[in-house]
Amino acid sequence: MTRMTVIGCGYLGAVHAACMAQSGHDVVGIDVDRPKVESLASGRPPFFEPGFETVLADAIASGRLRFTTDFAAAHGNQVHFVCVGTPQRAGENAADMTYVDAAVNALTPHLSPGDLVVGKSTVPVGTAGRLAGILRAAEPGAMLAWNPEFLREGFAVQDTLAPDRLVYGLPAAPADAAAKALLDEVYALPLSAGTPLVTTDYATAELVKVAANSFLATKISFINAMAEVCEATGADVSQLADAIGYDARIGRRFLNAGLGFGGGCLPKDIRAFMARAGELGADQALAFLREIDSINLRRRVRMVDLAREVCNGSIVGRRIAVLGAAFKPNSDDIRDSPALDVATQLQLQGATVVVTDPEAVTNARRASPGLHYADTAMEAAQDADLVMVLTEWDDYRSLDPDELASVVAGKHMLDGRNTLDPVRWRAAGWTYRALGRP
Ligand code: UDX
Repeated sequence: MTRMTVIGCGYLGAVHAACMAQSGHDVVGIDVDRPKVESLASGRPPFFEPGFETVLADAIASGRLRFTTDFAAAHGNQVHFVCVGTPQRAGENAADMTYVDAAVNALTPHLSPGDLVVGKSTVPVGTAGRLAGILRAAEPGAMLAWNPEFLREGFAVQDTLAPDRLVYGLPAAPADAAAKALLDEVYALPLSAGTPLVTTDYATAELVKVAANSFLATKISFINAMAEVCEATGADVSQLADAIGYDARIGRRFLNAGLGFGGGCLPKDIRAFMARAGELGADQALAFLREIDSINLRRRVRMVDLAREVCNGSIVGRRIAVLGAAFKPNSDDIRDSPALDVATQLQLQGATVVVTDPEAVTNARRASPGLHYADTAMEAAQDADLVMVLTEWDDYRSLDPDELASVVAGKHMLDGRNTLDPVRWRAAGWTYRALGRP
């Protein structure tokens, strides 16, 4: 059992804290956001994440997990995880390091010799080296490790308890052995289950995270570029993805063409990576990521154009139902959500847009108060000239075309995620259009 601190209780930190407590450790979660801390402390997740509520409740009931705004609670703990956000800086590509720096500065007065600070936030390469200097100045006996986190929203609990791999970016010898021993204790459960472990230096560990996210973004934009070509030729990108995906070297995962990637990670991570490479004089190496980003954003424009085409050239005064507001299913996260972006564009261009989502309406309403909202797909589709599925929730995949047809004004379906069965919808009398499919 390790006594540990988790600083930053967002999607990453809160799930990490609860899963660590569930694994037998003694954990205190620290966040500067008092309402968030109070919500977590009373067992109410401040965000939607499947399975999290149960893990949180069990961990609190075990007495091994508590939350506070007071950094002094870190005193006496041996391992301190830094899980705060590194959002995109306003008007720039680079990451905003304010929260990481503030977390480390607030933590240092409470460190003791032998403590291990573990960075989990996604940061520009070189950050760990810089933070190690700050730590050394404050508490020469403390150590730093970089341990990137690869969890996906929607699967956060599962990914935390049973990760694909563990990466330890360790300090130089001789501190590396002590840091590794502490991390091995923290991750005793996944390690004993055979989770692969890669130990590296700081810079490599930092780069693993942004390289992985860049590769995933590239895979999605690759298939979306193929979708553009398919649209120009009348070919079907879904069949194309199936066929190339059978090649084990390529693989079918992350080849779903559609509206492209959003969320709090992929878009800002590739931009921050380009910005950092520029600072390091390696911008040419990542020039392709600019194209990955623009292919991705072009899909949103294409979606709006397609809506206009379906509405005979103008969406002005048309009523459009948008099914989905979250950036992906099984999440209430609307950060850089392609669905909400498209909904906003449609409304700006004169349509009346009614948005629904099984979990993200509250967040969407706060971020985009100018749109209209409904609780269910049937309500959103009431009198709609056009229905668009922009986030592929199971609820929407299982919609009954006949039932939906009974409330709409026009039977036009635009599938922004290639998630519906075109044969079924067309058989029910709908016009069905999708990105990258004839
Ligand atoms: C991502 C990484 O997957 C995860 O490892 C990292 O820790 C954080 O960033 P996440 O942001 O939760 O996780 O979402 P992810 O499942 O990667 O999806 C990102 C976006 O890509 C979503 O908008 C999704 O809809 C889109 N996507 C994904 C596609 O458009 N097509 C695909 O085939 C897969």
